[in-house]
Amino acid sequence: MVVASRAKKVTTHTLQEMKRANEKISMLTAYDFSLARLVDEAGIDVILVGDSASNVMAGNDTTVPITLDHMIYHAKCVVNAVDRALVVVDMPFGTYQGDSKLALKSAIRILKESGGHAVKLEGGIEIVDSIKRILTAGIPVMGHLGLTPQSIYKFGTYSVRAKEEEEANKLMSDSNALQEAGCFSIVFEKIPADLAGKISKSLEIPTIGIGAGRDCDGQVLVLHDMLGITKQFSPRFLRRYASLGDTINSAVKQYITDIRGGDFPNSDESY
Ligand code: KIV
Repeated sequence: MVVASRAKKVTTHTLQEMKRANEKISMLTAYDFSLARLVDEAGIDVILVGDSASNVMAGNDTTVPITLDHMIYHAKCVVNAVDRALVVVDMPFGTYQGDSKLALKSAIRILKESGGHAVKLEGGIEIVDSIKRILTAGIPVMGHLGLTPQSIYKFGTYSVRAKEEEEANKLMSDSNALQEAGCFSIVFEKIPADLAGKISKSLEIPTIGIGAGRDCDGQVLVLHDMLGITKQFSPRFLRRYASLGDTINSAVKQYITDIRGGDFPNSDESY
């Protein structure tokens, strides 16, 4: 991990160097100051302020309702915590599709008001105009292909994408189009591992997988899922590294018991 350990601050260039040096990139979501600080201190390379905040923070069924103001708020909280990681901020649904001027305006607001370092957009050839215009302002862009949750009403389900040849071919040409447009990296969500590996090998920019197998150049998970805080979501690709939901439940139960039993606060905990 020579490139990663040398980097005092991770930039888009660090990620590209990591790909060239065959070093895997680690990425996690965060939406608030306290968890972002822990994640950054642990040495993550990239923090994604994902629009999954819509599900995880706000309890919505989809990522569609979250607004630009919400995303800027979450991103600012994360930026306040981070010393080393690259902070990438999702552009929410309705702030970049079909209107490249709107896309540029939205991306500028994100960078200016939150202090984030880059933006992520979902989609392929159909959003290349927006990507190119955002890049004219010097704002780095990460792409996102495969399962793109903002299009849930088009797909109808959250199942694996690009299993059939036609969709796999489209994914390959979309990946090339995003690289040519100037994206510094692409997220592949829920696509066959072989396909993700093949495209990752053919691209010069790093790919970050979620449910896309081990041959992507890096991996991302939703923090609350991998920590076992959100327990109702259990896709095959999710590895749980902790059971914080259970830990929190026991702690809160014990607190209630202590209050009810007159055990808390004791004299040492009083003035
Ligand atoms: O919003 C999000 O958390 C994401 C990841 C699943 C890649 O886009």
